[in-house]
This record gives sequence, structure tokens and C-alpha cells, in this order.
Amino acid sequence: KRPAGAPDKSLARPVTKVGIVGAGLMASQLALLFVRRLEVPVVLTDLDQERADKGVAYVHAEIDKLLAKGRINQDKANRHKALVSCETDKQVAFGDADFVIEAVFEEMAVKKTVFADVEKVVSAECVLATNTSSLSITEMAADLEHPERVVGFHFFNPVAVMPLLEIVKGEATDDATLATAFATGKSLKKTTILVKDSPSFIVNRLLGRFMSEVGRIVDEGTSVGVADSAFAGIAPMPPFVLLSLVGPAIALHNNETLKGAFPDRFYVSPALERIVAAKKGAYYGPDGRLDPE
Ligand code: CAA
Repeated sequence: KRPAGAPDKSLARPVTKVGIVGAGLMASQLALLFVRRLEVPVVLTDLDQERADKGVAYVHAEIDKLLAKGRINQDKANRHKALVSCETDKQVAFGDADFVIEAVFEEMAVKKTVFADVEKVVSAECVLATNTSSLSITEMAADLEHPERVVGFHFFNPVAVMPLLEIVKGEATDDATLATAFATGKSLKKTTILVKDSPSFIVNRLLGRFMSEVGRIVDEGTSVGVADSAFAGIAPMPPFVLLSLVGPAIALHNNETLKGAFPDRFYVSPALERIVAAKKGAYYGPDGRLDPE
């Protein structure tokens, strides 16, 4: 059955090579997923060789773990490892790709620059997908020569296990791009839903509402540990464990986007702002408070 809002799948174009912009944790998780499910060459790029190499190393290490668990055999492990590579030259990396996804820093100007650069080296039919969790697809595509091939393709952390994929149609996104996005999502074995191009789409808007409230509860004096315990039993992951998984900067950005769009419904915790400003990796203070000091 075709997912609601998905165009005729006969419009989908084949994906024979995937490019990934970025080689951070999200980008590396995406590389692993594409290699395992599509079994096509996947090229990661980053600003320098060291970062790009780290992305490939992550994929290789995860494949080794699957091998050790007996989930895949040696042949498959070798084949999948050989499919992932990295490259700092975008022309070499993406010149013959037909699906490029960006997973770089969550900032509109950065993402626009990335797409403008990628557009110079890919064919007019190459899909440009973005893993943004909150930004407007329409705006991201606006200055491109071919805005019709831009689509939101939003995964959740940890990518290997979270089943959902939000597919976002911008104002200009055409049916062939959308059909390719749905077909690719299906090949990746994700549950695909079409969502509106509105701030934080659906999942992060719901999650943001919840994280706003738990941030307020902690700012009112409850400890992080107690807030997390209160949540046990109703969701798989306590809110502050989830915050650590997603990363405080991304969580803060999401809350700010939502507060900007719907000021009366969202709350930006001052403690979370301090944590992000302090660039601390730990979110539990010594007394169990959400504070970097
Ligand atoms: N990376 C890869 N695989 C992971 C993983 C990770 N970080 N964490 C767990 N897994 C795998 C485990 O290896 C295990 O796989 P196998 O069964 O094949 O061995 C499987 O997940 C289950 O793991 P566990 O039994 O150890 O743990 P669990 O039952 O607690 O489940 C979980 C782990 C699925 C991550 C669960 O805690 C969960 O669903 N958490 C909620 C996560 C969530 O809400 N994510 C959305 C974040 S919002 C977001 O990402 C949006 C954004 O844009 C910011």
C-alpha cells in the first residue's frame, strides 16, 4: 500500500550511488544504514580527511559488531565495508551520485551553502535530501537552480533501530523527487510518512512540547534523576537520557525553533542554554540538577 500522500512509485528514479555530506555521528549512522539496506556505494565527505576517515571507521566498526553478533557473515561484512568510502573533493564524491543527503550542522545558512556547493557537481536529476530535524525545506531550496529536487528525509536516533522516517515536501519538491524519497525509505526498511514543511515537522514538535515541560519541571527545582524516574514505564528512554543521546545543542535548537514559531507553547530552559554555551558533555550536575556548574 502506498503511504498517504506518496506519488505514484513508477516516478521513482533508481538510486545506484549515495553521497553523504558530513561524517559526524548522524551522517555515519546514515552511511551504515544505506550500505546495509541499499547495498550501493556510499561516499562520505567532510571538511577534512581526518573527520571523513572517522566516519568510515565508525561504519567498519559497526559492521564488525554485527559480524561478531552473528547477524551477518564474513562475505557480507567484507562486501558492505568495501561499499563505504570517504572523499574530500565533492566533484569526485558526488559527480555520479543520484541521491545526496546532508547531515551537517543544524543551521540554515550552513545547509544552504552545502546544497549550493553540491548542486554545482551533481546531475540535474540527483535528489538533494536533508536530514534537518526542524528547518524549512522550502527555504533551504529557495536559492538553488533546481529546488524541485530538494526533499526532507528526517531520521531518528539511533538510526539503526528507530523505525520512522519523516519525508518532507517543500513548496517546489516535484513528484519524481518525492517518489524517489519514498522508494528509498522503503528500501531502507523504514516506516515513511509525508509531513508538512512546518517548524520541527511532527515528531520533534511533539517531543519539543514534552521536553519543554520536563525542562520547566527541573528548572522549578526537581532533580534530573527524579524527573527521569517519573517517566519510567511510559516511554523507552527517560527524557534526560534522550537529551544526552540527541545532543543538547540539537535539543536546544529544536526548542528555540519551536518557541520562535509558537511562542506561547514552548519553553527554552535557561539551564539547557547554559549547558550548550559551556559545551559540556555531562548534563547531570553533582546534585542531579540540570546544570553545567
Ligand atoms: N546505536 C545503534 N543501535 C542501538 C543503539 C545505538 N545508539 N542503542 C541501542 N541499539 C540497539 C541495540 O544494539 C539492540 O539491537 P539488537 O537487538 O540487534 O542487539 C536494540 O537497539 C535494542 O537495544 P537494548 O535492548 O539495549 O535497549 P532498549 O530496549 O532500551 O532500546 C532504544 C534502545 C531502541 C534506543 C530505546 O531506548 C528507544 O527507543 N529510545 C528512544 C529513542 C528516541 O526517542 N529517539 C528519538 C530521538 S529524537 C531524534 O532523533 C530527532 C531529532 O532529530 C533530534
